[in-house]
Amino acid sequence: MQDITISIQGSRPLKGSVAISGAKNAALPELAAVCLSSETIEFHNVPLVEDIKVMHAALAEIGAQGEISGNSIRETMPVLRSPLVSVQTAQTTRASILLLGPMLARHGYAKISFPGGCPIGERKIDFHLQGLEQMGAEIQSESEYIVARCRRLKGIEYIFPGKTVTGTENLLMAATLAEGTTVLGNCALEPEVTDLIRLLQEMGADISGPDGETVVVRGRTRLHGASHRIIPDRIEAGTYLIAGCFAGNEIHLQGVIPEHLGSLLEILKDMGADITVSAEAIYVKGGKSLAPAEVITQPYPGFPTDLQAQLTTLMTQADGVSRIRETIFNDRFRHVGELNRLGAEIKIQNDTAIIKGPARLRGAVLKTTDLRASAALVLGGLIAEGETIIQNSYQLFRGYENMPDKLQKLGAAITISRG
Ligand code: EPU
Repeated sequence: MQDITISIQGSRPLKGSVAISGAKNAALPELAAVCLSSETIEFHNVPLVEDIKVMHAALAEIGAQGEISGNSIRETMPVLRSPLVSVQTAQTTRASILLLGPMLARHGYAKISFPGGCPIGERKIDFHLQGLEQMGAEIQSESEYIVARCRRLKGIEYIFPGKTVTGTENLLMAATLAEGTTVLGNCALEPEVTDLIRLLQEMGADISGPDGETVVVRGRTRLHGASHRIIPDRIEAGTYLIAGCFAGNEIHLQGVIPEHLGSLLEILKDMGADITVSAEAIYVKGGKSLAPAEVITQPYPGFPTDLQAQLTTLMTQADGVSRIRETIFNDRFRHVGELNRLGAEIKIQNDTAIIKGPARLRGAVLKTTDLRASAALVLGGLIAEGETIIQNSYQLFRGYENMPDKLQKLGAAITISRG
């Protein structure tokens, strides 16, 4: 993995427009859906971030013929050439687990290394495996691999014991080619899941719902090709929206679906940011003083865990004590120690970060461990006086397309060096 260092000269006002890229977490399961058909699937508005490149490479490893052109990708998988998704691929992106359901459904066999991804706490996949086993798959673990086999999968009724985004996506994809009807209850219904449902329908899948949190899939014998435009990335948009709330900043976000950012917009307005929302754009101007807030991460439409770290950075600038309780992952506060090195006053109490503001941040040398923590530190560096250096920044590029370029265009003094 390449080492990347980000340097930021902070305390400069950010002003201007930023175009939001396609959603990484929609593009990942949608690329995995290529395994479900022998026909070509075209994707548009694909964010060319590292995780997507790894998924594209994983598809090539197992037999897809793919071509990237700008922000579009065409993939065709005539046959599954190899059922093996390697340790190297799976350790780089956790989304490799999304290949399990589609590979089993169309090919009846898959050997996938246990997934890696961001170190943000326990990340189980027991519901994925339980659901696929109930559909008739035989699943074993062989050293670092999950090995799964089946004849044709069978429709089931399955209520997820807890909300899982990729678990819902895996079983939905598997069910499209299963024999009979699958009823999935307590589904995660993040916008990325509904965008996947839209793609599967475009490929000819018979899916109805969501009705409440239930989705019904009537299995088909084959799916066909499609051309699909990926939704905008609400987490990228949320990150720039938060940056726009710093004193002195004024940012226009272009190409967003504001409804997907409902919980964040509400919190930021309550904190005192000046926000105007139109059909596909959001304008944000930093408030002179920000009020503190109490926030809990929750499945959609609640406040997303993927914006918890970035909002924590903003809360260091609020006038008083803010709290964020993390309920989705059990170890997602690794940015806190680094923000404190910048001068923030944040304490962790069980599952809650307690943030005392306003703190005067000053540049420091930081190290990052995961994707969203990296974004939080970049935001910290933008606020801080003087130079902030963020080492080990590869993670940022797993999920944010051209972030340094986009910030430079807004007026930030940010550079990267690779070594
Ligand atoms: N869980 C189980 N059993 C399962 C699956 C999940 O107990 O079988 C638990 C997990 O341990 C966790 C919680 O349920 O505590 C939620 O996990 P979920 O499965 O929803 O997360 P995920 O599907 O692995 C996706 C995103 C994450 C995002 C989470 C939550 C993708 C590729 N990843 O992960 O995105 O944080 O949903 O919204 O869609 C990111 O982009 O930075 C990122 C980490």
